[in-house]
Amino acid sequence: MSTSNVHTPAKPVQMVRHPSGNPVGKPATRYLLNCWYAAALSTELPTEGTLSRQLLDTGVLLYRKADGTPVALHDRCPHRFVPLSMGQRHGDDVVCKYHALRFDCSGACTHNPHGNQMIPAAAKVRSYALQEKWGFVWIWMGDEPADPAKLPDFSALDDGPPTGIGHTYMHMKANFELIIDNVMDLSHVDHVHGEIISTRGQLTPQIPPVKEENGSVNVRWEWQQTPPIGILAPFLPQPSQSARHFVSVTWHAPATIQLTIGATQDADASLTLDQTQGQYDLHTCTPASATETHYWFATRRNHAVADADFNQFKIQAMHSAFVDEDGPIIEAVQREMGTSDFFALNPVLITSDVAPVRVRRLLARMIEQEGRFA
Ligand code: FES
Ligand SMILES: [Fe+2]
Repeated sequence: MSTSNVHTPAKPVQMVRHPSGNPVGKPATRYLLNCWYAAALSTELPTEGTLSRQLLDTGVLLYRKADGTPVALHDRCPHRFVPLSMGQRHGDDVVCKYHALRFDCSGACTHNPHGNQMIPAAAKVRSYALQEKWGFVWIWMGDEPADPAKLPDFSALDDGPPTGIGHTYMHMKANFELIIDNVMDLSHVDHVHGEIISTRGQLTPQIPPVKEENGSVNVRWEWQQTPPIGILAPFLPQPSQSARHFVSVTWHAPATIQLTIGATQDADASLTLDQTQGQYDLHTCTPASATETHYWFATRRNHAVADADFNQFKIQAMHSAFVDEDGPIIEAVQREMGTSDFFALNPVLITSDVAPVRVRRLLARMIEQEGRFA
């Protein structure tokens, strides 16, 4: 692979941060904004109290109304800028801790207990559009009207019983693109991972085909290994014998990767999820800041779907593999880089970088087209 013309010098951007994490002036990181990011797992949103989470350098307050509808507000009172998360719920409203201005879930001020109780016209909190789908709450933080169609279809996650799907969350001290790079280049599995997802050196020699289509990037590997990959071997007829495998990995803007993996010992089977023992996974990342990322993983399998104990064991094993095996490397890379501008460091690129570099370039183009920083 050519290593020329991959260097895209960063525009240096100064940032002064409000202590709450909300940027004052230009943000240091150029995020794609008019798109859907995961804000939380559905199970994380409280019906009483609130959840405060930093997303794209901004404090966001998340909760559920009494009727279950999810709500997202800027976690900052417009009066003296106290995080609203320090206050209290008042039914579906929130009351600021400092001087008790009250806001409804659209961000409108509904009560001012002071003086003549007039509500200043500027007493508004920004609210964010949400969609709740496939076990996730997705947030739109851009200035353009939220476009539900920009969230890709991951409905396969809903296809089966609750004992056939696991979700987990990881906090990574690394820029989100390092996490995307890691999943788009699965050759690292040969070197980094232990027995449960070992690919036994079969991916590294390959130059996997990469396709860019409708704003997404797909990379696919097919291989044979003995014994089969640990997470699928017990569900094959001969768990210690050779099996054919595939993995198909598709990135969607801004930071969601859908990964399907399967294995079969049937010589006539095609390498698709419906003809193999396999699983349909989602990796989705949302930057908290340039150097910290919320990372969620969901996995829906097509075997042993009624086994609740295995379900629990499996998601814990996958979580441990990501946290104990990928995590230390990704976070060490971030520390060594000392920046989120990967190309500014003139990285050496090899064949396994084709898909991640394609994603980085496409995302950079989308951010450029958004024009926010033009
Ligand atoms: S800071 Fe919120 S009411 Fe004063
Ligand atoms: Fe990994």
